[in-house]
Amino acid sequence: MTTALVLGALSLSASAAGDARQLVTLPAAAQDSLREEMLANLRALNAILVLVAEGKVREAGTLAEESLGLSAMGKNRSLPLEARPGAHMPPAMHGLGMDGHKAASEFARIAASGDRDKTVAALPLLSGACVACHHSYRVR
Ligand code: HEC
Repeated sequence: MTTALVLGALSLSASAAGDARQLVTLPAAAQDSLREEMLANLRALNAILVLVAEGKVREAGTLAEESLGLSAMGKNRSLPLEARPGAHMPPAMHGLGMDGHKAASEFARIAASGDRDKTVAALPLLSGACVACHHSYRVR
């Protein structure tokens, strides 16, 4: 399902001359939290890839669950409403974020088996939602 979303998003942008992404306006505080969260996502993704490359697939799974999976949800719950990005996203955009958390947990489940080949094959589960959302939405 994630793959279909990515392919759909890619063909959409490839066919448009300008920037076809939907502009979503977030309060400045929410934009700040989103940017911080995104940089953390990128660092986590890289750290997971490093662990997989080193053959430490169970550790990669644990990190994926904690940093990107369903366990990573709700971190902004204690922030004021204007600082919570998810609260200001259109439902479809929010759904892509949810899909990403679910897919990362699915990756974590596969990596927990310790099977390196299956874990490598499951790596796109980590990046599919990033690409799908970035190709569909912008905030400025
Ligand atoms: C639900 C939508 C969504 C998902 C899913 C998503 N992002 Fe983002 N990301 C955004 C938006 C919107 C911005 C633009 C933020 C801005 O311009 O302030 C962004 C910006 C970024 C940036 C740039 C931060 C900067 O320096 O300004 C990085 C890096 C990034 N995302 C990485 C990731 C990674 C890695 C993933 C997947 C693990 C991911 N994102 C998943 C919506 C998403």
